Amino acid sequence: MDIVGSLKIRNLAVWPPVALAPMVGLSHSGLRCLVQDLGGIGLLYTEMLAAKRLPSDNPTISPLLTRSTKEKPLIYQLVTGEIEHISAAVDKLHKLDADGVDLNLGCPAPIQKRQGAGSSLALNREKLQNILRELRSKTDLPLSVKIRLGQKIDSFILADTCKFYEDEGVDLITVHGRLIGEKFCRKPRWGAIAAAKKAVSIPVFANGGVFSVADAKLCLEQSGADGLMVGRGAVERPWLCAEIGHHIFGIPSQLEMVDKRDVFETFTKLLDERFAKEKRLRRLKQFTRYYAGSFKFGHQLASRIQSSNSISEAKERAEQFFTTIAQVELTL
Ligand SMILES: Cc1cc2nc3c(=O)[nH]c(=O)nc-3n(C[C@H](O)[C@H](O)[C@H](O)COP(=O)(O)O)c2cc1C
Repeated sequence: MDIVGSLKIRNLAVWPPVALAPMVGLSHSGLRCLVQDLGGIGLLYTEMLAAKRLPSDNPTISPLLTRSTKEKPLIYQLVTGEIEHISAAVDKLHKLDADGVDLNLGCPAPIQKRQGAGSSLALNREKLQNILRELRSKTDLPLSVKIRLGQKIDSFILADTCKFYEDEGVDLITVHGRLIGEKFCRKPRWGAIAAAKKAVSIPVFANGGVFSVADAKLCLEQSGADGLMVGRGAVERPWLCAEIGHHIFGIPSQLEMVDKRDVFETFTKLLDERFAKEKRLRRLKQFTRYYAGSFKFGHQLASRIQSSNSISEAKERAEQFFTTIAQVELTL
């Protein structure tokens, strides 16, 4: 990587090369704004969106499509195993002013498996080729794929797979450094991602298990990747990308100003502004499950929020936590 702004994903300039991962229930407009405002993010993703349902989703009421204009660049992630859903889904993404389209090829969830989508689609080369060709023919937007390492550690297979994506017109490959089916408790294999990076001339992002600047440095070093995709680490510590941007990519930051109570309160405000009342509590619970990890006694915050019956109760309980238990560790 040489100069600032040099990473190009098709016609999209991305800097710093740090992306917020697609995560169901987490990577909505509220989290995207929170993390983007803290800094260090060059690329945002939606959570996976079922291509079949997308055309009929109403962006003014669907929590999956709610978005503010400042969330840019934003790549929308599609999940599908059916070629016939691609065309209408891509049309919709054009209308939604997407900055790119991603195809989910890593999700191992049984529901995706049954539909031949996610990691199942990644294993069906013929069907995948047809779907990628359909996607490529329907849009000039940057096209990315998010994959896992494969079924076993084999640098030849991974290299061949990534070359195939490049030949089919994919502009960015993100590799989650775990095998298909491996659980998140298993340490990701950042070194294995290097085979993907070496095989192609399009950018490769590494993903999995980055929770600190030290992790980010090691992941980039071992994978040789052009950039990073950060998931849970950016929920636990929404300022993590700002730290990575600052310490690795020289992005100015205001990290000394970060107050952990403010971050939580800003997030609840973002939820209030974006989501119908009945949708907020679930999203706050999902966020707090990880955010609580940034506090020494965070389990007390997590359990208070998980057992709340309303958003106002959750906010009150969080306030108690901040004024009593966590008072001494609100600043970074
Ligand atoms: C709650 C949750 C939801 C996820 N949803 C998606 C998704 O919609 N699409 C996807 O490609 N990956 C999804 N993932 C996987 C993440 O994008 C990422 O690959 C994984 O969490 C490893 O990165 P991390 O260690 O930085 O979190 C999800 C992960 C979590 C924890």
